[in-house]
Amino acid sequence: MDLKNLTVEEKLRLICGKDAWQTCDFNGKLPFVKVTDASMGVRTAKEDGSGDKPSVSYPSSQMLANTWNLETVRTYAECVADDCLEYGADILLGPGVNIKRNPLCGRNFEYYSEDPYLAGVIAREYISAMQQEGAGACLKHFCCNNLEYNRRLQSSEVDERTLREIYYKPFEIACEAKPVSLMCSYNKINGVQGSEYRKGFAVLREEYGFDGAVISDWDAVYDRAKAAKAGLDLEMPFSQSNYEKLLEDYQAGKITEAEIDECAQRVLDMVSRCKQLQEGKKRKRTQAERVKVAQETAEESIVLLKNDGVLPLKKGQKVAACGIYGAPYSANSDYSRYLAGGGSSKVVRLTNVFDIPEVLRKQGFSVLFNGGFDDNGINNWVRMSPRAATENAAVSDVNLVFAGTGGEIEHEGNDRKQMKLSDVQERAILDAAAVNPNTVVVLFAGAPIDVSAWIDEVAAVVWAGFPGERGDEAVANILTGKVNPSGKLTETFPLRYEDTPASQGYIDGTVTRYEEGLDVGYRYYDTYGVDVLFPFGYGLSYSEFDYKNLTLKGTGDKLEVNFEIENGSEIDGKEVSQVYVRAVSSYVYRPYKELKGFAKTFVKSGKTEKVTVRLDKHAFEYWSVGHDRWEVEDGIYEIIVAASVADEKLKIKIKIKDGKITVL
Ligand code: BGC
Repeated sequence: MDLKNLTVEEKLRLICGKDAWQTCDFNGKLPFVKVTDASMGVRTAKEDGSGDKPSVSYPSSQMLANTWNLETVRTYAECVADDCLEYGADILLGPGVNIKRNPLCGRNFEYYSEDPYLAGVIAREYISAMQQEGAGACLKHFCCNNLEYNRRLQSSEVDERTLREIYYKPFEIACEAKPVSLMCSYNKINGVQGSEYRKGFAVLREEYGFDGAVISDWDAVYDRAKAAKAGLDLEMPFSQSNYEKLLEDYQAGKITEAEIDECAQRVLDMVSRCKQLQEGKKRKRTQAERVKVAQETAEESIVLLKNDGVLPLKKGQKVAACGIYGAPYSANSDYSRYLAGGGSSKVVRLTNVFDIPEVLRKQGFSVLFNGGFDDNGINNWVRMSPRAATENAAVSDVNLVFAGTGGEIEHEGNDRKQMKLSDVQERAILDAAAVNPNTVVVLFAGAPIDVSAWIDEVAAVVWAGFPGERGDEAVANILTGKVNPSGKLTETFPLRYEDTPASQGYIDGTVTRYEEGLDVGYRYYDTYGVDVLFPFGYGLSYSEFDYKNLTLKGTGDKLEVNFEIENGSEIDGKEVSQVYVRAVSSYVYRPYKELKGFAKTFVKSGKTEKVTVRLDKHAFEYWSVGHDRWEVEDGIYEIIVAASVADEKLKIKIKIKDGKITVL
């Protein structure tokens, strides 16, 4: 498609969008694309404007990342592509790869990790699978939108090295999958509006090979001509006043036709690429099969945080359960109140039931359930009948407490006020634990919870996150051992919010200084030896794994990391192993160690499996501020194989000289 058949006015209009969700077609003159929202499934508005169409509700992005399983990521993304095909959407407005710099950020559940490598690799796999199945991706939000507070007014002030190594990095990796589009952020970056971020857009196009269209976040354009000149191709949604001003600016010579053509051509290219992606594509899975994938993803993502041995539940045990999160009302609004984040990513689920006690009953357990507390975590709607809940707990072998946050606490445009659960929930957990030491807390939330008030009093903690519409089956299967937990955390759970480096940085409503630089998440805790509650990469299993026989094979600037994982237990299980690189003899500052590879391996009981992780020169690079490029320093590096950032299992040193690797 080229621009020859369009008038200047049409081209100006083309780069301003048609309405909230479509590009212009000029009454059939051009093909167009329809976009739709993302992060927990596909959110598509009904044609008559009366809300959204029901669609498969999957675990949120945060949970998908906790799987550390690229096959699961592929399958999940293929299903989302099927959902897009089903609802006639050409582009999914995701994935979001913003770094989890602050545990209170209201959109953390929509993002993958505090680690840029992990977030980038997951996004790359997701985009590649989704686009292969016929739906275009829109990688978002570029960049440094790491808090919702004053998101349209504040400027994220970040130094160049930190931008390159932390905040641009996931975009750099994800761009390898050639997303058809990318979305700017609401905030300013070092004083420049996200929609006018010429420098960043140039890095994307000239260095990262991004060849799609840059789309604005919704209503993030303040000066359409300036944004177009900076490289923002499509404004969304359509704004009459911005369009009129653009026309005026064009007539006044403030923007040339050639500049408009660049944006318009990229919009046309994006539309034709989407149509090409769809050619001959049929849905790969039925809706029922996709719901099953939602459940399997939840099972792969749930993280067992603590277990004194009470889990898995044993046959014949009498179970008490309380907390509305485990069996909320069936209406959709109540579901997302408890079990999903809020905002533009909210999905109207297909199935109308979410009932963990009932699933447990079907698996042969007798369960006494009482809502106990009916509290969405902000104490504005509390109905307690604690007596029945505690009485049930007292006469049962095991007591389950379902607690968490939900869509009114974690949502777009708003940050959480605190990391703790509400007082009502903390009290309910402590009361239950006082009468039954076998108390298991199942947490439903999108970001870390401060559990200091009660963790020592309970026997087990299960992180269910926002697990999607079949999370009840998934949680029950983890509790009973039908599924062996294998998720690991993709962000640190600090002991308290004040320990988070970002919590100490300057912020005044218009300026947020990223004073901690590279020391985001585990990079800070690990480098400075700060204790945390649960480290990055942590998660328990019902199996026990041993790591052994680390060997390295270096060829030129590539390194093959080989080791073995033994499952010494009587239960088959999956282990997430992580490979970190530590620069031992560096002139420039480096965080203590950084994640550069990982694997998830199924190991049968009593068996040993070989694992191979490949590293290339990018694993050793840092951004040289002096030379304005990536460099690998000569010197000694340590390759560390670990079960979490705080649980190093095996290590070997290597030497790099003039880019060549020698194993020491
Ligand atoms: C959000 C985007 C979303 C868009 C469209 C914005 O408010 O920041 O993530 O895709 O709305 O709903």
